Amino acid sequence: MTRHSRTARHSKTAKSARIISVASQKGGVGKTATVTNMAVGLVSLGYKVAIIDMDTQGHIAFSFGIKKIDLQKTIYDVLIGEAKMRDIKRNAFGVDLYLSNNSLSDLSPTVTAHINAKLFPAPKYLLKNAIAQIQSLYDYVLIDTSPSIDIQTMNSLLASTDIIIPVLPEGLAIDGIFDTLVLIKSIQNQGSKINILGILPTMVQESTNLHNVMLQDLRKHFAETPEIKVFETVIKRAIRHGLAQTNGEPDIKNAPEYLSFVKEVFAIA
Ligand SMILES: Nc1ncnc2c1ncn2[C@@H]1O[C@H](COP(=O)(O)OP(=O)(O)O)[C@@H](O)[C@H]1O
Ligand SMILES: [Mg+2]
Repeated sequence: MTRHSRTARHSKTAKSARIISVASQKGGVGKTATVTNMAVGLVSLGYKVAIIDMDTQGHIAFSFGIKKIDLQKTIYDVLIGEAKMRDIKRNAFGVDLYLSNNSLSDLSPTVTAHINAKLFPAPKYLLKNAIAQIQSLYDYVLIDTSPSIDIQTMNSLLASTDIIIPVLPEGLAIDGIFDTLVLIKSIQNQGSKINILGILPTMVQESTNLHNVMLQDLRKHFAETPEIKVFETVIKRAIRHGLAQTNGEPDIKNAPEYLSFVKEVFAIA
């Protein structure tokens, strides 16, 4: 299908977006780079895409050339009921952005402070309710998360239809994945049907023996659990993948592996 006809088809039909958290209990594994590059990759294929930043560091703003200090209202204001999603929407490089900054770290204290007033009867479902305002507008909503297991991450996972787990094939990588899988189990036990799309090896240095051995181990380990897939596509360690965060100009031409990746994940061409 051509890009043109896909765009035309999408503009006519009401959508119900796939909501995808990119999450891992490890920091610095390429979560933000994955969300950013997947989003511009999907846009280049003609899809309607949004990103929600649920990390208090606000790195998605950086990645799209927006100063987080300039943000008047953020996802925090939506979650506490003081703004609508449409009030905070920005657009850059074809992606709709629902951004955050440090104010998001007030979420837990605010919810706790109002516990007696029952202002937030379902504090773990604030994001799910916010996404209901925009779900029909998009094909894909990608959520960037922080490594901690806090109210932001619980909200992200409970709002998601799917999860992608990036992993750096070093050290105790498999153990790190295990922590995330335990978290997903607990989310599923709370009634969520969240689907594990798979594990994405990131920052891979194919020239190093360590990475090759770890990658093989990873594939072997998860071959025994067919419901958890290790993607064929791997993301190499290369400065260009982090360029968006440095320059604030995401461009899928700099990150072609991520284009192969979105095609593999969603079985699209
Ligand atoms: N494939 C990659 N190769 C090289 N550097 C990368 C790659 N992916 C991300 N980076 C850089 O590594 C750092 C951590 O990546 P980031 O996406 O911020 O991880 P996380 O969101 O999991 O903390 C950033 O400086 C980013 O620009
Ligand atoms: Mg990040």
